[in-house]
Parts: sequence; C-alpha cells; structure tokens
Amino acid sequence: LASAVVSGGGTGIGLATATRLARDHDVLLVGRRPEVLERACAQLGPAATWHRADTAEPADVAALAQALPGPVDVVVCNAGAPARSADPGDLAAVAASWADCFRANVLSAVLLVTALEPLLTRPGGRVVVVGSRAAASGASSPAYVAAKAALNGWLLALASRLGPEGVTANVVAPGYTAGTELVAGRIPPEREAAILGAIAAGRPATADEVAAVIAFLASPAASFVNGQVVGVDGGVVAR
Ligand SMILES: NC(=O)c1ccc[n+]([C@@H]2O[C@H](COP(=O)([O-])OP(=O)(O)OC[C@H]3O[C@@H](n4cnc5c(N)ncnc54)[C@H](OP(=O)(O)O)[C@@H]3O)[C@@H](O)[C@H]2O)c1
Repeated sequence: LASAVVSGGGTGIGLATATRLARDHDVLLVGRRPEVLERACAQLGPAATWHRADTAEPADVAALAQALPGPVDVVVCNAGAPARSADPGDLAAVAASWADCFRANVLSAVLLVTALEPLLTRPGGRVVVVGSRAAASGASSPAYVAAKAALNGWLLALASRLGPEGVTANVVAPGYTAGTELVAGRIPPEREAAILGAIAAGRPATADEVAAVIAFLASPAASFVNGQVVGVDGGVVAR
C-alpha cells in the first residue's frame, strides 16, 4: 500500500480525506487530541494509525518525521483554524491573534512539508494543502484571509522546487463546508444566509466533496497538475 499523512485527520475535511485515502493507502492521522484521532482510526479500520502532534510546533513535527519509516507518498496539510477576534484598540491582542492565525494555518503546513520532504517518494510524491476560497474573495476575518493567501504564495515556490523531482504540490481551496468543527455553531444565521446566497449551488460543500478533490490531486492521475489552487466552492453567484 502507498502511504499518506493527513494533518487534522481526526475531524471534518481531514477525516473525510483520510476515509477516501484509506481505500488504497496506509494513512497516518495527525492532530493534537489523541481521543479524537483514536476514534477516527477505529472508524477507518486497520489502514489507519495516528500520531499526536501540534503541526505548528517544531519539536512535535521533528518527532513525527523521526517516527516515520518513509517513504511517504502523500502529505495532506489540512490542519488549520479560524482567527480569534481581537479588539482593534488593543494592539497586543491584534498581534497575538494574527501570530496565532499564521501559526495555525501557515506554519503548520510549512513545518509538516519541510520535515517530510526528504521522505517523499520521488518521482510520484504528492503534497496537497488545504487553503480557502476566502484567500481570493476576502470573505472571512482579515488574518485568516491573509494566512490562507500566504499558503497560495508559498505553493508557487514549493511546486517550482519539487516539480523537477516528479513531486506535485497543489492547494485545494474549499468554500463554506458545513458540519466541521471549524464552522459548527460559529456562524450566526444571518451570516450563513449571506454566505449561502453567494454560492451558485445554493448550499455548503460537504467534507466529502472537498475530500474527493484532495484525493484526486493525491492520486497518480493528477501527475501533471502542479502549483494550482483548485477551488471547491459550488460556484459564485454573479452580481
Ligand atoms: N469548514 C469550512 O468552511 C472551511 C472552508 C475553507 C477552508 N477550510 C479549511 O479546511 C481545513 C480543515 O478544517 P475543517 O473545516 O475540517 O475543520 P476542523 O474539523 O476544525 O478540522 C481542523 C483539524 O485540524 C486539527 N488541527 C488544528 N490545528 C492543529 C495543529 N496545530 N496541529 C495539529 N492538528 C491541528 C484539529 O484537531 P486538533 O484540534 O485535535 O488538533 C482538527 O482535527 C482547515 O485548514 C480550514 O481552514 C475549512
């Protein structure tokens, strides 16, 4: 079996991705809560194992890379989190909110890829990073928009460096995806109505619809797709 590592693989889009990849990969789920990862592995069966790590913490990611026998065929950098709101009158709180948001969404992907890069299968390795449609639309908190946009820029450098070695790197940019921990109970009804009104499909994505595109980019069939930001957003209503 090929091998895959999925950060944030215990819930939401990560769990849906791990579920698809577990059909033909040994999948390692990475996250910070052992009980969540253990439950996900029980659901996925013997192809899935887990490792506790904060992917924004250098020591945790180094230990993860050490624990992996390699080679790794697929790395899915899915771990991410929304920005905490901060009172604009409190610059220390603004700084902390932005730093935390970059840590959660940018560093967590950069450290994981940097640590696992030496283990990637060459040729044939795949890196898929979960960004957001908000990076292009601006429709989220400024720190989250900027952090996800940073991933798109980093991707270009990554794809250009890994491409000659037969490895691809792409970003999947989901629109509003219902039912994950990131959004559940966090979006007021009026805001949700506005979000849905801007989606041509008139509904949120399911985590599995996002996972299907991640799994394609992680597959041998996507060998000539590199450095792309692939939207999975149901289309935008023209205004
Ligand atoms: N839902 C949406 O509408 C939407 C839209 C666009 C993009 N996205 C992106 O999709 C990705 C997955 O989010 P989701 O919606 O599926 O929400 P989710 O259920 O909250 O998934 C996030 C996962 O990442 C893990 N995680 C967070 N920070 C981590 C860290 N520092 N180290 C290791 N694991 C970490 C969490 O587990 P632990 O807390 O146990 O570590 C959790 O399992 C995120 O990057 C998010 O920004 C979501």
